[in-house]
Amino acid sequence: MITEDQALDLVHDAMERAYAPYSNYQVGALVVADDGHTYAGCNVENASYPEGHCAETAAIAAMVLAGSKRIESIYIMSQDTQGATPCGGCRQRIREFATASTPVYLCSPTNVVHSLTLGDLLPRAFGPEFLQ
Ligand code: THU
Repeated sequence: MITEDQALDLVHDAMERAYAPYSNYQVGALVVADDGHTYAGCNVENASYPEGHCAETAAIAAMVLAGSKRIESIYIMSQDTQGATPCGGCRQRIREFATASTPVYLCSPTNVVHSLTLGDLLPRAFGPEFLQ
């Protein structure tokens, strides 16, 4: 299993690859999946502002493309010393492949600032079980 320091290095690398010339708000995300692999993503903006995508979205897409559908934990990093926090849409995207107890680590560029669960961030979430 990946250590916290390894995860921080990987999510930092992802954050540094962000393409965020409009907001100047770089974000990295690292999904630790149930297949034992990690999947990184960064935010990618474009001139049509609403069409950019979030770091978490990219990391989840990489995980699904590789064949995994279960998030064991996720690290999210920005330059903010208070730690990155996922937007509402990304909380829902994480929910699709996680549970209320899945750890979500909100990181500054140097450390985990908040160790939360998805349930903390998205209580009483709507998820796939409502559609079965
Ligand atoms: N952003 C993310 O990548 N993840 C989030 O959860 C919050 C916001 C990005 C989107 C946009 O490129 C920039 O941060 C500013 O909103």
